[in-house]
Amino acid sequence: MSLTCRWQISEYIRSLAVLRLLGSLGVALLALSYAVYLINPIEVAINVKLSFMNGSFLFGLWKKPPVQIYVQVYLFNVTNPREFLRGRERLRVQEVGPFVYREELENTDVKFNDNDTITYTPRRHVIFVPEMSVGDPREVKVVTPNLGLLGLASSLHNSSIFTNLAFATLCRYLDAQPFLKVSVHDYMWGIDEPLVPLASKLFPKWISFPRLGILDRMFDEGQNVVTMNVNGDERVDRPAHDLQPENVTSARRAFAIETWNGSPGLRHWGFGVEDDPYSSSSRCNTIRGATEGILFPPNMRPDMSFSVYRKAFCRTLPLQFVREGPTPDQVPAYWYTLRDDAFETADVNPDNNCYCRPSVAPCLPRGLSDLTPCYYDIPAAVSLPHFYKADESLLEQIDGLRPNGSLHATTLAIQPRVGVPLIANIRVQTNLVVHKTKGNPRVAPFNNLTLPIFWVDLTVLGLPDYITSLLDLMLVVGPVIQTTAIVLLSGSGALLLLAAAAGVCCTAGMLHASSSPHAAPLQTAYKYSQVKILGAVVKPRAVAKPEQLVSLSLGRDRDADLDFGRGRS
Ligand SMILES: *[C@@H]1O[C@H](CO)[C@@H](O)[C@H](O)[C@H]1NC(C)=O
Ligand SMILES: *[C@@H]1O[C@H](CO)[C@@H](O)[C@H](O)[C@H]1NC(C)=O
Ligand SMILES: *[C@@H]1O[C@H](CO)[C@@H](O)[C@H](O)[C@H]1NC(C)=O
Ligand SMILES: *[C@@H]1O[C@H](CO)[C@@H](O)[C@H](O)[C@H]1NC(C)=O
Ligand SMILES: *[C@@H]1O[C@H](CO)[C@@H](O)[C@H](O)[C@H]1NC(C)=O
Ligand SMILES: *[C@@H]1O[C@H](CO)[C@@H](O)[C@H](O)[C@H]1NC(C)=O
Ligand SMILES: *[C@@H]1O[C@H](CO)[C@@H](O)[C@H](O)[C@H]1NC(C)=O
Repeated sequence: MSLTCRWQISEYIRSLAVLRLLGSLGVALLALSYAVYLINPIEVAINVKLSFMNGSFLFGLWKKPPVQIYVQVYLFNVTNPREFLRGRERLRVQEVGPFVYREELENTDVKFNDNDTITYTPRRHVIFVPEMSVGDPREVKVVTPNLGLLGLASSLHNSSIFTNLAFATLCRYLDAQPFLKVSVHDYMWGIDEPLVPLASKLFPKWISFPRLGILDRMFDEGQNVVTMNVNGDERVDRPAHDLQPENVTSARRAFAIETWNGSPGLRHWGFGVEDDPYSSSSRCNTIRGATEGILFPPNMRPDMSFSVYRKAFCRTLPLQFVREGPTPDQVPAYWYTLRDDAFETADVNPDNNCYCRPSVAPCLPRGLSDLTPCYYDIPAAVSLPHFYKADESLLEQIDGLRPNGSLHATTLAIQPRVGVPLIANIRVQTNLVVHKTKGNPRVAPFNNLTLPIFWVDLTVLGLPDYITSLLDLMLVVGPVIQTTAIVLLSGSGALLLLAAAAGVCCTAGMLHASSSPHAAPLQTAYKYSQVKILGAVVKPRAVAKPEQLVSLSLGRDRDADLDFGRGRS
């Protein structure tokens, strides 16, 4: 008898140890789930991934963007040059394109500064993509206005009559034709035509370029030194576009331009030029706070608005939020477009006042924004393709333009948590503005005409798959896994704790019972108590009556046992 008793006690101690283990495991799991909840490892991982440091993921994304940027170029072929010159018809054009180039960008000479800024030099180059283009640019021939002749004549519109007559004589001497039949390649990258080189010899101060191409200006951005903010000022949650001029100098926004070639504004639009009567520092000519469009601040909100600066646009382009929704790759995104009033006249949108300089040229109608200072001082203007959303008078001058929102509006989808562009179609057109010329019969038919030259669609089709998957993992799958893990951990922790508690009560009752003479063999009781524990786990209320539980197991009534377990569940 005493032997049995000792055996029972040691068994009791062993089961107690098991229960303690179970209990501690339950507590540990509960603590772990709470820790996961508190620490939020997915958030931590995202923040590590998204920190902007030498070698980090985000840094790599910015330094040499892995996105495929395509520059799709569309030209306008003139189909009725003779009729137009005779004054019989309006100028008729036909869109030819796309000719597609892949743009590669690398930010070089990167230097981290002490004051949370980074200084670098962006370098771009383009590679022709034949398989996406309509033809070989060296083979396809188009009839186009002679940009050298028309551009130079137009830029002389407010010069003295003597200069104009001298230029007209030069044109006659060279027999410069108002229309040229050239290959697309020559047109884009520079025409071998005698007027421009000769003019540049005669007027070296005025014409500082040997050739005139339409795209070389766009990609010949030169060496630019950019300083960009790495960390934004949390208080700057107001849109850069809405910052008052006096605030612009103090506000800092993440991944926004701080200075461009040492200046926070565009000198050619009067920034910091004190003797310019039309503008000094204003929203219009400030680029500080605009982004280059490679990275946007993390944790964007719909009420934030942005301006994008690219040297080829000659100005900042304001974006406006449209909607929230996933991309075709199912990455959550905010969708933006160009602000409706981006190309409004200065009297409607005062933010455009610096682009209109009445002392230099008449102000341009709605839909056009001056490019002259960025285009060798030749009167050029940027607009939406096919004069979409522009003044009706522009469309009335030209046949063959068909503005269409789905083809010609700008769209940009940005991942708001990370601030990377996912999909982009930035669409702009470059036009030659021929002012009222004097003393030159060759260009007279073009007076007051705004000639569409070409338009580009800067296209980002999507991020590479490995980055989309990573974003998906971090932003969609990760949080779900984390929440599931918290639920599972806390659930199983609670179950184990309850099981242990039930076990302790049950073993205690068993020891009590085993001291009675009719004690059943402990093993059986233990086995039944295990069954009970499971029942108790399913329905914790069963724990409330341990005596009943034990007495039933002691009665060896298996069916009753199971019934008991089920009866309350
Ligand atoms: C451009 O227009 C001219 C007629 O002015 C035509 O001969 C030529 O084939 C056209 N080019 C293209 C690429 O359509
Ligand atoms: C980043 O780190 C690499 C190697 O650790 C170094 O060669 C490079 O100069 C660093 N770049 C910057 C901008 O500090
Ligand atoms: C930060 O440091 C860089 C380089 O030293 C300097 O060009 C820039 O003006 C500084 N910016 C601010 C806001 O102090
Ligand atoms: C920012 O501009 C607002 C007016 O819009 C002005 O009240 C505020 O004082 C300015 N803040 C700073 C720091 O200049
Ligand atoms: C021409 O230039 C003079 C100043 O040189 C200016 O006063 C005048 O308004 C300009 N005219 C036009 C049409 O731009
Ligand atoms: C605009 O272009 C789309 C795509 O080519 C076309 O389906 C649609 O009919 C066009 N809309 C108009 C008004 O021409
Ligand atoms: C061109 O515009 C000017 C000023 O806007 C106007 O005076 C002139 O009559 C116009 N000429 C033609 C040919 O439309």
